[in-house]
Amino acid sequence: MEQNIDMSVNLGGIRMANPVTVASGTFGYGQEYARLIDLSRLGAVTVKGIRLEAWPGNPLPRHAEVFGGMVNAIGLQGPGVEGFIRDDMPFLRKAGTPVIVNIWGTSIEEYAEVARRFSEVEGIAGLELNISCPNVKEGGHAFGHDPSTVSRLVAAVRRATPLPIMPKLAPNVPDITVFVRAAQEAGADALAMINTLPAMVIDIERQVPVLANKTGGLSGRGIHPVAVKLVWDAASVATVPILAMGGIFEPEDAIEFLLAGAKAVAVGTATFIDPSTALRVVDGIRAYMIRHGYASMADFKRVG
Ligand SMILES: Cc1cc2nc3c(=O)[nH]c(=O)nc-3n(C[C@H](O)[C@H](O)[C@H](O)COP(=O)(O)O)c2cc1C
Repeated sequence: MEQNIDMSVNLGGIRMANPVTVASGTFGYGQEYARLIDLSRLGAVTVKGIRLEAWPGNPLPRHAEVFGGMVNAIGLQGPGVEGFIRDDMPFLRKAGTPVIVNIWGTSIEEYAEVARRFSEVEGIAGLELNISCPNVKEGGHAFGHDPSTVSRLVAAVRRATPLPIMPKLAPNVPDITVFVRAAQEAGADALAMINTLPAMVIDIERQVPVLANKTGGLSGRGIHPVAVKLVWDAASVATVPILAMGGIFEPEDAIEFLLAGAKAVAVGTATFIDPSTALRVVDGIRAYMIRHGYASMADFKRVG
């Protein structure tokens, strides 16, 4: 009976044996976690954000635990394209799991150039475009907060690569459907959501912000219902598959996303507490499918 269940999904050209990956920035580049869990049981490995050159990120402290989650301002520390290809790709290729590379840049041209470089690298299944980065040259706005910028950015990356591309939409916008339409009309193959929500923590005795960057992004359990609503809204107009994330700690949280209209899910902050969360989520989705007599992921329908 169990063997007849097909958990595979096609996430806009990224073929995954099951619908569960890890959220960018919470799993490094896979190597550390390979000692703790069997990477081949994941639907895909999604790595931390990479820009053209190596990037140091923000000064410490860069994260703070809060009720219901954590606030971080790592600042997209990373090895750059060449460092990642040299130090991490050989390992990831051997792991035998599809690799989703999260990319960013300080200009549209940089996103396109990073995408172009990765197109020539064997073993990359797709690119997730982090367009919720605050430090950009166009007026200081995050790319993801202006639909016409989203459109231009996605179109530029589309021209630069034949790889599947998946913009990661900013969650703090008035109407997510506008951004869904902009991204898919510009050539996105899939959409990822949600990124962290802007947040701040203050040390009341020292009377200073806790994070050196002053503000950061909230992730974890507390953002889960917000994410479910955004995915559900997005799925009402999406013609491409959605990768959902935000506070998945238990299989039930992931199943909620699948019933909100997502095709696949990513486990983020929970991995810091229990590195095997993503694998428990795979098992839990399978158990749910058995219980509900599902044969494939297509049996998950968006609730009305
Ligand atoms: C420490 C940390 C680092 C992150 N780094 C990135 C990143 O490099 N690129 C990106 O697109 N998202 C990044 N994120 C956002 C996560 O991928 C995810 O969208 C968010 O944390 C929500 O999922 P969660 O509540 O399960 O953690 C990061 C999140 C955390 C907590």
